[in-house]
Amino acid sequence: MEHLAGGGKTRDMAEVYHRAKDLIEGSQNDHKISILSNLASLLYFSMEDVMWVGFYAVVNGELVLFPFHGPLACSKIQHGKGVCGTAWAENKTLIVPDVDAFPGHIACSSASRSEIVVPVRDQNGEVKAVLDIDSSSLDRFGEEEAKYLELICEQL
Ligand code: SME
Repeated sequence: MEHLAGGGKTRDMAEVYHRAKDLIEGSQNDHKISILSNLASLLYFSMEDVMWVGFYAVVNGELVLFPFHGPLACSKIQHGKGVCGTAWAENKTLIVPDVDAFPGHIACSSASRSEIVVPVRDQNGEVKAVLDIDSSSLDRFGEEEAKYLELICEQL
């Protein structure tokens, strides 16, 4: 397994995408929770300058903390609340260059300065979960990150 993130941290999102794709393709017989756990770890150890990577899944009408890598995080987020709940409600990727400028941002860690949230959809296009990645740097995430993270989430 170690070879998947063995190249260390990078800003090359095509490289990150290929590592994630290899992991997902090699894990088809694994439980979903195991795949998400390893994927959170792989992204954490592959992406430069990220401090939290994890999933929130829709369970009984709210987002519930799923596998992640990084500091402790809030366990539940309501529909439409915070960046995660807004990405779910709007069914779209949200890039937040400065979390202090996002009304209603939920600060799980005071060290987080910017974040990206990508929906994970089922075959009908309904949001089943979100992938949330935080950085302690301002303006860490852009269109490259959105594009490749969306490709990764499409494979889940
Ligand atoms: N900041 C997120 C909450 C999750 S933590 O960042 C891990 C939000 O506003 O939805």
